[in-house]
Amino acid sequence: MTTLKLRNGDEMPTLGLGTWKSRPGEVHGAVKEAIKVGYRHIDCAAVYANEVEVGNALAECFAKGLVKREDMWITSKLWNDCHASDDVLPALKKTLVDLQLDYLDLYLIHWPVVLKKGVMFPRSAADLVPLDDLPTSVTWARMEEAVDGGLCKHIGVSNFSVPKLRALVESARIKPAVIQNEVHPYLQTADMLDYCEQNGVLLTAYSPLGSGDRPSRMKAADEPVLFEDPAIVGIADRLGVSPAQVLIRWAIQRGTVVIPKSVNPGRIKQNFDAASLTLSDDDMATIAALDRHRRYIGGTFWCPDGSPYTMANLWDE
Ligand code: A2P
Repeated sequence: MTTLKLRNGDEMPTLGLGTWKSRPGEVHGAVKEAIKVGYRHIDCAAVYANEVEVGNALAECFAKGLVKREDMWITSKLWNDCHASDDVLPALKKTLVDLQLDYLDLYLIHWPVVLKKGVMFPRSAADLVPLDDLPTSVTWARMEEAVDGGLCKHIGVSNFSVPKLRALVESARIKPAVIQNEVHPYLQTADMLDYCEQNGVLLTAYSPLGSGDRPSRMKAADEPVLFEDPAIVGIADRLGVSPAQVLIRWAIQRGTVVIPKSVNPGRIKQNFDAASLTLSDDDMATIAALDRHRRYIGGTFWCPDGSPYTMANLWDE
């Protein structure tokens, strides 16, 4: 398993198993299968509502001696209703209990969006708190305390724009080690990758396969399907691999960490094997030309009528 170096010299496995949308009844088997196949990185979040099952699977694997805790990389994320000073560490501790771990390798602020305590998704603008009223700096101070206290080794953010990440990098005592954003050939965000490379932040690509299993409320009618893109299919056919494998290898070869989700044993293995492919310079150039700045996870759900969040201020574009 290849790794990328973090700003403090630690190494992060470049391929991880995504668990967003993995149902509790399925994720247990997926995590065990992934570890058997060789994955050493599992991406989790409190809001995925399956951390107890992930924790059971991890505990079984550790107990059976399939892998040691110190050889695994486990990420989780702080949900938007726990950004307040008093809520960050309890939320992290709950995740540690659910995952049956003493520490996380990485803890991320899931979104630069604040929800009222107890709200999972906003039903109206009244459920949202403006970022000005509870700024990221307040939340980040507690994230730093989590590192100080040994509850997590690294901290970072998710779904941040370059300006929001830059503001944090420039002000933080412990700088973000990782940003996890949606990245795939239709949303390459070269500006973010450049910023990360120049500032010692690793970029993790989520929804690398286009997250076709998203709930329908998160889907647009006219969505382009990455797996069906003629250029991706053409490269896959020529190499005798699947379109998913091309997408995963592209992400790794581009210098990002990548976390494809699967609960299917055959696809878990297939995705793992993608790490050892090589794409030619021509293939990389062909895929580079597919960029269309198309988000699948736009974040419109944070922007009901009257919300302090708009698509413009969320992404700073
Ligand atoms: P499944 O879990 O049944 O394998 P993303 O990682 O972008 O969120 O995409 C996840 C979606 O892609 C899920 O629907 C998942 O289904 C599917 N998927 C994962 N790996 C593959 C693969 N190798 N080939 C086809 N579909 C895949």
